[in-house]
Amino acid sequence: MATNNWIIRTIQRCDFMLKLLVHLRKYWKLVLLSPTCMMIEVGMDLLQPLLLAAIVDKGVANGDIPFIMRTGLLMVGIAIIGMAGGMGGIMASSFAAQGFGADLRWQLFKKVQSFSFANLDELRTASLITRLTNDVTQVQQTVMMLLRAFVRAPLLSIGGLVMAISINARLALILLVTMPLLALSLWVVINKAFPLFMEVQRRVDRVNAVMRENLVGVRVIKAFVRAAKEKERFGSANESLRDITTRASRVVALQMPLMMLLMNLSIVAIIWFGGIQVNTGQMTVGEVIAFINYITQILFALMLVAWVLMAFSRAKASADRINEVLDTEALIREKPDPVVSKINKGEIVFDRVSFQYPGAGGAPVLQDISFTVSPGETVAILGGTGAGKTSLVNLIPRFFDVTQGRVLVDGVDVRDYSLKTLREGIGMVPQETILFSGSIEDNIRWGKEDATGEEIEAAAKAAQIHDFIVNLPDGYQTRLGQRGINLSGGQKQRLAIARALVAKPAVLIFDDSTSAVDTGTEACLQQSVKDYLGRCTRIIIAQKISSVMRADKIILLENGKIEGIGTHEMLLAKSPVYQDIYHSQWGQEAVVSG
Ligand code: UTP
Ligand code: MG
Repeated sequence: MATNNWIIRTIQRCDFMLKLLVHLRKYWKLVLLSPTCMMIEVGMDLLQPLLLAAIVDKGVANGDIPFIMRTGLLMVGIAIIGMAGGMGGIMASSFAAQGFGADLRWQLFKKVQSFSFANLDELRTASLITRLTNDVTQVQQTVMMLLRAFVRAPLLSIGGLVMAISINARLALILLVTMPLLALSLWVVINKAFPLFMEVQRRVDRVNAVMRENLVGVRVIKAFVRAAKEKERFGSANESLRDITTRASRVVALQMPLMMLLMNLSIVAIIWFGGIQVNTGQMTVGEVIAFINYITQILFALMLVAWVLMAFSRAKASADRINEVLDTEALIREKPDPVVSKINKGEIVFDRVSFQYPGAGGAPVLQDISFTVSPGETVAILGGTGAGKTSLVNLIPRFFDVTQGRVLVDGVDVRDYSLKTLREGIGMVPQETILFSGSIEDNIRWGKEDATGEEIEAAAKAAQIHDFIVNLPDGYQTRLGQRGINLSGGQKQRLAIARALVAKPAVLIFDDSTSAVDTGTEACLQQSVKDYLGRCTRIIIAQKISSVMRADKIILLENGKIEGIGTHEMLLAKSPVYQDIYHSQWGQEAVVSG
């Protein structure tokens, strides 16, 4: 019963690997070639001791030099064939493993591209990077080892056993004692090492996590003078990794001398009993030598198995993390038969929409939201921080799905469009500006791949960034750092606006996109964007009244509910909340732009 459990557990342990090995299917030719080559190598390895025995028994015993030469040459020839087989095996298995790794990375990458915002919130970006690189490499190496060792070890041990028995079955009985002892020692070592290696992998994760956080946040760390504290944190993670690795290595290190002891004891036993048989003429000296050779090969093969099992336990952590990504279901899914018509009017309707972030408890972030935006209208969403403005607009391009109610664009539920049609029809300037490494022109063209030079310039002019760009030494060809580091916050925002403008979508959403732009520039920008876009629906999120007072309609959001809808004048007359905001900002921006 206990054995059964152990077997089941082992199979369950290997299950993670089987799931990934499916990706090897494409390389079946290499996967088959590898053991074929290996068979040649092992076969040649198994022949050598026989020839050696012949040299000793026939050549050395009779002083037959030509025989020794001939057999010696044969041994060299066999060694060369064996080497060729070995090299072929290594090449086939490493090609297969490399291909497997590349495919796995590609699968993961594709999967991540299909993820919705909620998926990405759950599997953090930094962790995904480790999974796509480090973890894949770990698994890839194990696959390579598997391809080699899992064929070589059984072939060598069974072949060795057959040869040993064929030489002298009685002497082979020694193996009856050695093998179980060896298996037992292996079992003990592996059982001790398994959990330790799991812990090693967890601590590697921890070191990676601390390091990632520090690299991403190095500016903040400097600003808050936290370097000493962070060093300490990293140091402790690093040390705990070292400790556990040392412990694991100690256990593994134990295995080698144990094996050697068993091996040497077997050799002593063979020489002892073999010697007796040589004396009585039942066995030749050459046979004893060959026998010793086979026993050594068998024991080494078993050691190889031990190594593979160790590698397996290390790869498990990585494979689990990869499987977790592959098994994650994208939360936003397209309809199989989406609506084909494109979005061109730009009408938006929220129909009794409620929304809760996936997995979050408590009150919904948005409650019972209903409003209509007619084509070509400019609608502003005003509300304090955390009111739910970003959450609201994220529902339009389906970054998240509503929990209740529906969102219609041009009279069609957003869930009925394909994501491509929907998102092409809706332009977005997100709250957090993200630019890509490359030139300024590349970054604007991102919004529309086939944009001409004039189109790019027109968009930049409308976004009030053209003058700044042409004054740069390289103009539109100026390269940006990986995260647009050589631009100010407001410049980045305006570049992101230009990127959204260039495609001239039917609906444009500005999520607090002018927060880092001064009031004067903002007024110009609003006018130039309006002129540029013509009849395009615009949704502007803002916290400043000055940014919204010219809108056709203002939606006042508070705590996820609509507090009031109307023009500036209407709200000022009727809504106490709006009056409060207005008065608190009065004398600041309200005056400047009013
Ligand atoms: P929003 O992000 O919609 O607020 O979050 P907002 O109005 O745009 O705020 P500012 O002006 O940009 O600061 C609304 C609520 O949703 C929760 C937040 O805690 C907040 O209370 N939220 C937001 C989540 O639970 N998960 C998220 O991923 C984002
Ligand atoms: Mg926001």
